[in-house]
Amino acid sequence: TDAVPGFPQPTEHTQKAYSPTDNFTSRWTRADAKQLKAMSDPDAGSRENSMPTEYTMPTVSQDFPDMSNEKVWVWDTWPLIDENANQYSVNGQEIIFSLVADRKLGFDERHQYARIGYFYRPAGIPADERPEDGGWTYGGQVFDEGVTGKIFEDQSFTHQTQWSGSARVSKNGEIKLFFTDVAFYRDKDGQDVKPYDSRIALSVGHVHSNKKGVKLTGFNKVKELLQADGKNYQNAAQNSYYNFRDPFTFVDPAHPGETYMVFEGNSAMDRDDAKCTAEDLGYREGETNGETVDQVNKSGATYQIGNVGLARAKNKALTEWEFLPPILSANCVTDQTERPQIYMQDGKYYLFTISHRSTFATGIDGPEGVYGFVGNGIRSDYQPLNRGSGLALGSPTNLNFAAGSPFAPDYNQHPGQFQAYSHYVMPGGLVQSFIDTIGTKDNFVRGGTLGPTVKLNIKGDSATVDYSYGNNGLGGWADIPANRELKNKKK
Ligand code: FRU
Ligand code: FRU
Repeated sequence: TDAVPGFPQPTEHTQKAYSPTDNFTSRWTRADAKQLKAMSDPDAGSRENSMPTEYTMPTVSQDFPDMSNEKVWVWDTWPLIDENANQYSVNGQEIIFSLVADRKLGFDERHQYARIGYFYRPAGIPADERPEDGGWTYGGQVFDEGVTGKIFEDQSFTHQTQWSGSARVSKNGEIKLFFTDVAFYRDKDGQDVKPYDSRIALSVGHVHSNKKGVKLTGFNKVKELLQADGKNYQNAAQNSYYNFRDPFTFVDPAHPGETYMVFEGNSAMDRDDAKCTAEDLGYREGETNGETVDQVNKSGATYQIGNVGLARAKNKALTEWEFLPPILSANCVTDQTERPQIYMQDGKYYLFTISHRSTFATGIDGPEGVYGFVGNGIRSDYQPLNRGSGLALGSPTNLNFAAGSPFAPDYNQHPGQFQAYSHYVMPGGLVQSFIDTIGTKDNFVRGGTLGPTVKLNIKGDSATVDYSYGNNGLGGWADIPANRELKNKKK
């Protein structure tokens, strides 16, 4: 492919598979990520979307329904899955888990107070026959207060919160809830007196489901699984703002008998002397629109060193895990590769992960959205989807103008810039996400509920929005359908 004038060529990636245990980490390079800006229309005016329509979620309206009936703020959400990411109803009820917080808090205060809650609804009803808000009933919190704080040796935390993960169901109704267990240690002014502590954890309970509703029991113990090691995954000593969270487990037909986990990490360098390499930049030989390693390392881009981690279970109960090297790094590209997941289709392995516009490194720009990479194995030389950029589905954004923030969007931004985040790709290419902010600087509303589900057509190294799905591409609000049924007798 010819480079867009003024922009570099993306890095060549082979998609070649390596053994999961090999010391090979694929790179989402600066040359790749520069394709994001290369596909942005430099002439898009104030409040217009500058990104290609085929990679952009259609604009969501401000009059969205609230799935919790004003009970809680809702954001990151995950279904009840098996080891192949199939989504289950249990005895006729679909079940999802969400991060929730008290609506008395401002939506931006949610992270320190997050709890894992759950919702259920009758299975098997087409989206257009459901209530507009998706028809979910809020079931409450999974854990009693105090349960998830017990794993921390230092009990002097001021905030103890539950962050994202994934939920695996077995035939007997047992649920393994993998999640992120977090403690904050702060003073009266909200300043950290010591770095926050973020660990990957497991709690095992049971689901009880019938026509009347769904109850969860037994989530009264937490087993710590992994702490950032400082070798492959940056820890608090290297950076007090390290990212280490969002476990997602799966099996790989190429390695029967093993269970793997992907999660969000950072490259294990000290924050203040992190360095990116020529390979992280990824420019081809003779590239005339490249940068030097020195330029990039002096630009501040080294503060953004996200990675996607891999771990392997050491026992069948999935209570013991070991780290493997990261499968993807985004050094000098972005600091957050959140909620990673592996999606398999047509013999290919797709790695999806979400990233914010605000976490891209100096010199890189791209929308809030879900980014995708394809390869021939869980560890491979991943090819970023869509013109080599990595963008799978973005919110409508104008890269010619500043972002602002969800609580103060830039005057010139498209009203949909913060309409969706924390996308999760479901069987059949359906994608759910939550609403953060919809509207322009002078007229916006905050979300705190799930947005409309959309569908991606995923094929080879491309993913495009299916505009024939739902209403011009927008499906039902909070629509997370099961594609499998579980019937169990336990009441
Ligand atoms: C279920 C499934 C999942 C996989 C996805 C890929 O139908 O096969 O196991 O993640 O679909 O299409
Ligand atoms: C994504 C995210 C996750 C994290 C959670 C915390 O929206 O940042 O990575 O687990 O939100 O609220």
